[in-house]
Amino acid sequence: MSTDVDVAYVESTAPGHGRLRPRAYFGSDVPVVDLDGDWRFRLAAGLGDLTAGFQEPDFPDVGWDEMPVPAFWQLNDYGKPAYLNVRYPFPVDPPRVPDANPTGEYRRGFDLPADFPLDRAVLRFEGVDSCFAVWVNGVPLGDGKGSRLPTEFDASRALRHGRNVVAVRVHQWSAGSYLEDQDMWWMSGIFRSVRLLARGLEDYFVHADFDHVTGTGTLSVETTAPNARLSVPELGLADADPAGPYTAPVQPWSDETPKLYEGELVVDGERVPLRIGFRRVLVEDGQISVNGRPILLRGVNRHEWHPRTGRTLDRETMLADVLLMKRHNVNAVRTSHYPPHPDFLALCDEHGLWVIDECDYETHGFESLGWAGNPSAEPVWREALLDRAARMVERDKNHPSIIMWSLGNEAGDGPNLAAMAEWIRGRDGSRLIHYEGAWRSCAYVDVYSRMYAGYEEVDEIGRRVEAATGNPADDAHRRAIPFIQCEYGHAMGNGPGGLRDYQDLFEKYPRLAGGFIWEWIDHGVEQTDEDGVTFYAYGGDFGEELHDSNFVADGLIFPDRTPSPGLLDFKKVVEPVHITAAFNARTLEIRNLHHSRDTGYLRWEWSVEAGGVETAAGRLEIEPVAPGESLTVAWPKEALDPAADAAVDGELWLTVRGVLAADEPWAGAGHEIAWGQGRIDAGAGQRPPAPAAAGTPRAAGSPVTADGVIRLGDAVFDAQTGVLRSIGGIDVEGPRLDIWRAPIDNEVWGQHGPRHEPLNSRWHSAGLHRMHHKTLGVTATENGLEVRTRLAAAAVGFGLDVLYRWGTDAADVLWLDVVVDPYGAWTVPLPRLGVAMTLPGEYDHVEWFGLGPAEAYRDAANGTRVGRYRAPVAQLQTPYVRPQENGNRHDVRWARITDAAGDRGLSVLGAPVVDVSVKPWSTRELEAARHRNELRPDGRIHVNLDHAHQGVGSAACGPLLPEKDTLHAAHAEFRIGFAEIDGES
Ligand code: GAL
Repeated sequence: MSTDVDVAYVESTAPGHGRLRPRAYFGSDVPVVDLDGDWRFRLAAGLGDLTAGFQEPDFPDVGWDEMPVPAFWQLNDYGKPAYLNVRYPFPVDPPRVPDANPTGEYRRGFDLPADFPLDRAVLRFEGVDSCFAVWVNGVPLGDGKGSRLPTEFDASRALRHGRNVVAVRVHQWSAGSYLEDQDMWWMSGIFRSVRLLARGLEDYFVHADFDHVTGTGTLSVETTAPNARLSVPELGLADADPAGPYTAPVQPWSDETPKLYEGELVVDGERVPLRIGFRRVLVEDGQISVNGRPILLRGVNRHEWHPRTGRTLDRETMLADVLLMKRHNVNAVRTSHYPPHPDFLALCDEHGLWVIDECDYETHGFESLGWAGNPSAEPVWREALLDRAARMVERDKNHPSIIMWSLGNEAGDGPNLAAMAEWIRGRDGSRLIHYEGAWRSCAYVDVYSRMYAGYEEVDEIGRRVEAATGNPADDAHRRAIPFIQCEYGHAMGNGPGGLRDYQDLFEKYPRLAGGFIWEWIDHGVEQTDEDGVTFYAYGGDFGEELHDSNFVADGLIFPDRTPSPGLLDFKKVVEPVHITAAFNARTLEIRNLHHSRDTGYLRWEWSVEAGGVETAAGRLEIEPVAPGESLTVAWPKEALDPAADAAVDGELWLTVRGVLAADEPWAGAGHEIAWGQGRIDAGAGQRPPAPAAAGTPRAAGSPVTADGVIRLGDAVFDAQTGVLRSIGGIDVEGPRLDIWRAPIDNEVWGQHGPRHEPLNSRWHSAGLHRMHHKTLGVTATENGLEVRTRLAAAAVGFGLDVLYRWGTDAADVLWLDVVVDPYGAWTVPLPRLGVAMTLPGEYDHVEWFGLGPAEAYRDAANGTRVGRYRAPVAQLQTPYVRPQENGNRHDVRWARITDAAGDRGLSVLGAPVVDVSVKPWSTRELEAARHRNELRPDGRIHVNLDHAHQGVGSAACGPLLPEKDTLHAAHAEFRIGFAEIDGES
């Protein structure tokens, strides 16, 4: 045990000691020594295990290991990450933390050139989790907390030219941990960069206002250096007094037109580049107005995440996020729940994303204590909270993309939050203040913010008739301010569903300024199994004492940044231009929902597809539609050619796409922004007619019973059970009624039903995952076969009566009519209603005509369009981090399940449509797997053909599934056709 160090700071509520006052993050040409790279490292088990004298320059660290900076030690072979959502991983006894307090001792030597100005030396840490103390050449500089905020120390008195040694002690747990209870992995280390700077200009604050009435910008730059000079060539400013103010006609900054004026501050020979964006953010008429027009936030909540490096991100990864967002019509980011790496904000400035910058503050674990002792309300924490607010605002104040400061997340309520708001207002009156936890009174915030409010409540809020608080002053204030859903659409596993219903409300009521999906990325930790197969770990995989399982994997993109079907759905739902094709009038309506951009940047492309095959295509000239306006134009002439109608079997569609006419910095010309489809042939707006062959089954041969089988055309049935055994040369098992699917996260976690029990556990109690088929009768009729069965689980008195009626038609299609009638007292909805069958493993390709190409469910099908698609079965699986129901193709008219060559297999016909999912493993295997690597093809192809599915919703964290998306056990009839594909096609 070392006794030479005072470690009282670890459990002190003080934010730090010996630190310089916070200031903006900026680059300049002052001398800098980059201290990133390998440091010497030792992990101490706790404060009783520290290394005496480790901070001394000549301490012998030769035997020590190396640890990269920036990085988390838990992702570099020391300790393990631990995931908890709300609860603290230690007793709630502030400010005390466990004795087992892993402490990283870091040392690094570096050479300082002879011309480095020692007197201006500042040692800057961009992020250390969670608490640290610093020495240079054995001289203590101070200590700090606030993991996702920068800390600077004056290093002038400790440095020398030549060799220096910096030593840092980093504690996993500290009093600061009580303020950092965000829903994410607990990990520690110097996880953002460390630099030694020769400080020149201390700080500056750009004020760049825009007056939309006159079209002028007003610029004034506050600096800490009286002799600073400002140049902005595009504005004609050269060596000017930064204070200005200067007024000039400018192009304003917005997410759609992120115009940045390049400038420079010069102080004593130091050059500081500036990027200036002019805009004005206000609450006006109860709406969030930027540059005189209301904005609609189509946002996501973004945590920093990389599956290998955790919250240490390189610039390439940050750029990947920004580009993916822009390409999916996302226009806003909430930096949940801490200030991100500052480079991310610079990328938002450059590419155009509205940002809510959120403070590094959450105390959710106090909720279960009735918020007793919550730091938001305790005077002893006030300094720490004000410190965090100031460090965020000072660091990030020069980013035009930031339109709101958020005080934090889920930290209850209390005077310390109000004090943070007051301090921020005093320092920066140009942005709005957000904090969801203040939703009742909204007393100290500028926007009314909620998370996971249901549709009815959002509708009430839209109409400004939400429940009163009992305090008339609060009510009056709240009703006058705009509303956002800072979190909605919980993207955990399969889903979210029902996004369109929210978007319709956001687009309907001016008070609703949109929202932010929870969340952007799954925080899965990349792992490799014994067979070299990659998978992503989640809570519990590292042996945590307490954990919240896969609640950490609830993003719109997978850990490797592949978009999930949820992101494709969202992209369509929030498209900034709506294209609606009207069948009767044969017109297209183009509605521009942009904030400030007209549609002139889009090129309009149309195509006509007959049965999913393009028959004509071209470009449509549409004059630019101003933001907020609509325009109705006629369909392209060629799409009206009636001759085309006759030629197709069934369906003729017009697809119109709005694509980028020219390259943008974030996507190339041709990138699709919006699309619409309209049915050209009769039946538009309705479901398509049944295939020509789907008439009443006609006798094309009566059944023949012999040798324990029944033959009907080229189909062979088991005479005892009535189950199909083969069609022509294809050996099959089933189809039989199937109501089970591998429960999705919304069913595993959501509190459904009167007893607030997850639907999955209600389903398991009802036995829906272990239904048995009982054959009641197999009857050969004059022109077919009738099979009566019952489907029910052990120990219960309810089930389903199922009648299968088989027949063939003249086209050799084998038709199955299924009639389902529930009996007994059903108390749960059905996961799915359809039939399941298996095919030989060689039929591992699917071609279909219907919605695609992505997976889709009844309440999450927006991102798919009618077309003809083909994919290997392996590609039809969506690799959710925790395996669950996935891969359904919705509203399929026909599908061909074939070998790779496509000339042998089974053809399936909807009548008119059927949902199709094809898997190389069974539902049972899918349900049992905890990680994607556990799923291995079992040699058969498992096919589900569904009449209906329960919606996917968002109930893991959000409202229950709406009635309209619920699949009740009720009388149902559906028809599916089957035919062998035998090489002729
Ligand atoms: C919210 C919280 C998020 C996340 C989400 C559930 O309450 O703000 O951080 O935990 O719930 O995934």
